[in-house]
Amino acid sequence: MCGIIGIVSGQPVADRLVDSLKRLEYRGYDSAGIATLSDAGLDRRRAEGKLVNLETLLKTEPLGGTIGIGHTRWATHGAPTVRNAHPHATPRVAVVHNGIIENFRELRTSLEADGYVFESETDTETIALIVTRALDRGAEPVEAVRQILPQLEGAFALAFVFSGEENLIVGARRGSPLAVGIGKGEMFLGSDAIALSPFTDAVRYLEDGDFVVLDRSQAKIYDVDGLAVERPVRRSVGKAFYVDKGNHRHFMQKEIYEQPEVIGHTLGSFVDMTTGRTRVPNGQSLDFKDIKRMAISACGTGYLAGLTGRYYFERHARIACDIDVASEFRYRESPLGDVDLALFVSQSGETADTLASLRYAKSMGLKTASVVNVQESTIARESDVVLPTLAGPEIGVASTKAFTCQLMALAALSIRAGVDRGVISPDEELAMTRALAEGPRMVAEAFKLEGQIEILARELATYRHALYLGRGLSYPLALEGALKLKEISYIHAEGYAAGELKHGPIALIDETMPVIVVAPHDRMFEKTVSNMQEVAARGGRIILITDEKGARAGAVSAMETLILPDMPEILTPIAFAVPLQMLAYHTAVHMGTDVDQPRNLAKSVTVE
Ligand code: F6R
Repeated sequence: MCGIIGIVSGQPVADRLVDSLKRLEYRGYDSAGIATLSDAGLDRRRAEGKLVNLETLLKTEPLGGTIGIGHTRWATHGAPTVRNAHPHATPRVAVVHNGIIENFRELRTSLEADGYVFESETDTETIALIVTRALDRGAEPVEAVRQILPQLEGAFALAFVFSGEENLIVGARRGSPLAVGIGKGEMFLGSDAIALSPFTDAVRYLEDGDFVVLDRSQAKIYDVDGLAVERPVRRSVGKAFYVDKGNHRHFMQKEIYEQPEVIGHTLGSFVDMTTGRTRVPNGQSLDFKDIKRMAISACGTGYLAGLTGRYYFERHARIACDIDVASEFRYRESPLGDVDLALFVSQSGETADTLASLRYAKSMGLKTASVVNVQESTIARESDVVLPTLAGPEIGVASTKAFTCQLMALAALSIRAGVDRGVISPDEELAMTRALAEGPRMVAEAFKLEGQIEILARELATYRHALYLGRGLSYPLALEGALKLKEISYIHAEGYAAGELKHGPIALIDETMPVIVVAPHDRMFEKTVSNMQEVAARGGRIILITDEKGARAGAVSAMETLILPDMPEILTPIAFAVPLQMLAYHTAVHMGTDVDQPRNLAKSVTVE
């Protein structure tokens, strides 16, 4: 969601705050702002829209100062205007916030009753004013923040600077992530290691409920009970990974092209590539022998990876899988009585609903495991077992390489589970891991379709709606293809299990409805072809994504066919994801939308 940064230094900070915000922009890009403290006092610059607008403003109206905070916003309360942009400030204090203050109306009423005047519609301004009230009543800055935190309900990561305090930043986290960066003669506070990567790779991650007081030489951290605590220093890899778009026009395109490499790396942590045997990464203990039922939960693309995981685990290990979107799971109060393992899937490791679901599962006494890309994230830290995807930082808001890495991790893990449960023999295990090892090559083969896809995308861009169909392992892919198209091209798209077509969606089929059918020549192929015939008979425009065998078997009129090589079934979700990603990408490029930062979306959804 929003990204925050704070720097207390002996050197000017304005340019460095902006540099950090550039890396945080993937978290939100509705508006941006910084506040610094200089001889001229506490001052701020804020601009609506992309960060570049703030940069332009700072050229004409620069800010001095060696201490400051910055923010890039994904609007929750109040439209994305300058007035609602962070930092929010009074003459005494400025604050940046990631999260939502749920009781802000109550707090606002109480502040207004005391004569405090609001200038924005945001929940965050309440924090600036409530701290100001504590200061006005005589509290010192650190004490003022400490006093007001218990009054805040909801989720937050906060950073404060105070008028007259050139060597003090105060921070706090509850729900939303926050990390301290340790510099030489300077200290940093940021939403994640990527924000801190231009300055330092030595990072202390705050735990939920932590409160931190920074000056140039140290960071004092206190836990939820107010006791001084040490949080371990971790070496972050954010810097090593932070790269530009290279020769690619967008991060999304670059990330699509990184897939052969990163799915290979991910496979390497689940399979010993010399013996071909599966393993649980990093020597962690997770034996599936007695696991009969699993509950999977995640959001968005992570959920669709989990849905594919359900097919893998049920088929390869005969483990029954319940699956929910995390925003439902967390409130459904499912009894979970016969569930033996709760499994979560998250790229960022910070998604609020997935984190809440993890905590719910733990509160029910379940063992938890998470397939997670950001290893230092809260979900990774709070899970009993961490199942890493090694996709590297994903900057494009639409998930691509993280998804295929999640699929690779789940496929490999389901084989491990099958072996543990005696469903898969050692020979079958070898054959299956050999099949997975073909993944990078199959993805690279899919890239060869790009020219054809680009032409198709021009046509797709002329439609207002699209349907995606798939069965079995290709059903989650149909949903993922539709999600990718709608989020970056804004074309309305729906994914359906092909067998559901007759139960409603077929009413939509006419010559204005393109239907993208994902159908490798697997055990479901013939059935999907029948569904395609039904579409063709009603004049629907079909784009079939299949393999060579499928292309030979499934000719239907009014059809464009994208043909991948024949491949083992376990690999089809991974390789067939690629043409779907490229189709969405080129359609969006053709339509001229903002591919890496589509409207209204944010990369890391740390609010409900
Ligand atoms: C879609 C997309 C989102 C995320 C979802 C969960 O392309 O990226 O749907 O998958 O917000 O995020 P993570 O995986 O970070 O928990």
